Amino acid sequence: MAFKIRDSITWVGKIDWELRSFHGEELSTHRGSSYNSYLVRDEKTVLIDTVWGPFNREFVRNLKQVIDLKKIDFIIANHAETDHSGSLPELMREIPGTPVYCTANAVKSLRGHYHEDWNFNVVKTGDKLNIGSKELIFIEAPMLHWPDSMFCYLTGDNVLFSNDAFGQHYSSERMYNDLVDQCELFQEAIKYYANILTPFSMLVGNKIKEVVGLKLPVDMICPSHGIMWRKDPLQIVNKYSEWANNYQENQITIIYDSMWNGTRRMAEAIAEGIKSADSSVAIKLFHAARSDKADVITEIFKAKAVLAGSPTVNRGILSAIAGILEEMKGLGFKNKKAAAFGTYGWSGESVKILTEKLKDAGLEIIHDGVRANWNPDKASIDACISLGKEVAGKLK
Ligand code: FEO
Repeated sequence: MAFKIRDSITWVGKIDWELRSFHGEELSTHRGSSYNSYLVRDEKTVLIDTVWGPFNREFVRNLKQVIDLKKIDFIIANHAETDHSGSLPELMREIPGTPVYCTANAVKSLRGHYHEDWNFNVVKTGDKLNIGSKELIFIEAPMLHWPDSMFCYLTGDNVLFSNDAFGQHYSSERMYNDLVDQCELFQEAIKYYANILTPFSMLVGNKIKEVVGLKLPVDMICPSHGIMWRKDPLQIVNKYSEWANNYQENQITIIYDSMWNGTRRMAEAIAEGIKSADSSVAIKLFHAARSDKADVITEIFKAKAVLAGSPTVNRGILSAIAGILEEMKGLGFKNKKAAAFGTYGWSGESVKILTEKLKDAGLEIIHDGVRANWNPDKASIDACISLGKEVAGKLK
């Protein structure tokens, strides 16, 4: 499959309808994904990025139907991660001397992945590649989300090829933002941001200011995953500005794990307390072991407060909630409040451990937490309702 998105630009990527996880099993991809590769034709012909390695032969076969490979003058590798560079070895076997334009860090990563000494041409922000009547302008984007990441901009067509930024793990034959379901699109876009870009939010904000400062007209944003933004393309840039700025919605997210439902009953009582104090706040409960981790992280990203619960087990906490707290620490959420709760039979350390882990993850602890001995009795349930009320009150 290939199709023109402009007279001079042809999409030559791969829609991966079957993909259900990414980065190993770290990130769920309920709606599949796509690996977008673009062929730009002017007096010179340029290929921007390739597709994931398992599709390398299909990619090269399809590309041959669009162009004689020997007519490709330049290859641009905006990012060395294998979902975009994975077909380079297959392609470079056919056209071995073709110049590969990328950042200095991408040379290291590409050499590290493939152990090949291709004809690398290192570019920096502001460098330009003349392709005839138009130019490609390079913009380094280090740590968005790898050290090697880069955008490039095509003059004349005013298209920003943004690689992972502004992308979504979202399969659709429709391929354009104005043709797809907006709820699905933005759900996948925010999930992508929350799970991948949260740690780099400060850099995202600065990069947006830098790119806007270049005053380049943008008619279209073509990321390397999911649909392309052609209708009001800057809407996703504005969303990124919001998400990068300690984003939160009027939401409290409760995550818990439970062995015999005691901690679940506490979670539900806390929710009842929140609702009675503030019926406007969205309250979302997730059983950590039964919920998709990446979806939970997305709901934590949206929350202004996170309440975490676990029973005490072997002087610790249950592993599913421990995993989510560890991931929260890595993502470095900012400007969120937190408290802990949980049942116990004898030693009873879970609330203390959860509180420490929430604090380690950068959340502000606003309550000492609630412990319930064995199955929560009325006094413990009332304490949970009070916790919910108190948290809701502090967030108003
Ligand atoms: Fe889509 Fe960082 O690769």
